[in-house]
Amino acid sequence: MEIKITKTTSPKIMPPADKLGFGSVFTDHMFIMDYSDEKGWHDARIVPYGPLSFDPAASVLHYGTEVFEGLKAYRRPDGKVQLFRPWDNVERLNNSCARLGLPKLDPEDALAAIKKMVEVDESWVPSSDGASLYIRPFLFSTDPNLSLHGVHKAMYVIICSPSQAYFSTGLKPVPIMVETEDVRAVRGGTGEAKCGGNYAAANRAGDRANEKGYSQVLWLDGVERRYVEEGGGMNVMFRIGDKIVTPMLTGSILPGVTRRSAIALCKSWGMDVEERLLPIDELIQAAADGSLKEAWCVGTAAVVGPIGLLEYKGVKYEINNNEIGEVTQRIYDELTGIQWGRKEDTFGWTCVIE
Ligand code: COI
Repeated sequence: MEIKITKTTSPKIMPPADKLGFGSVFTDHMFIMDYSDEKGWHDARIVPYGPLSFDPAASVLHYGTEVFEGLKAYRRPDGKVQLFRPWDNVERLNNSCARLGLPKLDPEDALAAIKKMVEVDESWVPSSDGASLYIRPFLFSTDPNLSLHGVHKAMYVIICSPSQAYFSTGLKPVPIMVETEDVRAVRGGTGEAKCGGNYAAANRAGDRANEKGYSQVLWLDGVERRYVEEGGGMNVMFRIGDKIVTPMLTGSILPGVTRRSAIALCKSWGMDVEERLLPIDELIQAAADGSLKEAWCVGTAAVVGPIGLLEYKGVKYEINNNEIGEVTQRIYDELTGIQWGRKEDTFGWTCVIE
């Protein structure tokens, strides 16, 4: 794939690391590629960052035909920049496309585009502690037609945002609330796809949780509201007794790259990891009797976030005295060590941008 590059004539200046926040500052460039039935994917280009242009009737604006990914580029101690399991993001992006009837990308082209974007905006990869370049590839239908129809025109875009850690509280445990009214997804729906609509469906519950002082919700399954699924935008893991337990991928849960990595790390340390249906009653019982030793969320943006308190049906359960637990800390240290190139990557998860 040939990528035409047009550099900006008015480069911006990256704000100081402590002013970056998450996902609100953007680099100088963006990648764009168009799709049509006649031409397939074509016209790959990197252009100055700016507004996109498409018809107001574009189906993404009406029917939510959009999928996205999130991954990061990390500055290593030797100054080089590396990505973490980007091929997994590309694979998931194509799976999400398949679910929403969007045209898939050639995996090699999709990865090449991500790498080239990072190369062009390499100076935007922060070197301060905990900061990274958050990469947001997204793909949507631009068909200018209000009928319900298959996708004939689409756009693949990549934007990049130098960001600090997702939670401004850092590794301080956060309180979360079990959502008992709304549901995020059902099996056979779009829960395992990374599509904007899943996050739109989560908004109301997220707002309610925030208003009550919780950082996010814990979703239950969409049919029986009986099994734990995931957090608001990240997967969840628990240490119950001497086992690590995480909800199994039933089809309504996002197959997270950080989730997969955390499971692999725990297994490599000889821990007993169970991916299974986790009834909320079991989790609450474990929280009440103290066998729930640790709870944490895992996601690309957040990496690992300890959960210090769980609210369910108005009752609050503190976990590990609202302190980060040893497994949570160990996963965080190992994962961030590998991601930022401070620790040896024995899994082959990273790739350096040359
Ligand atoms: C990520 O962790 O990359 C996500 O997609 C979460 C995002 C909604 C902030």
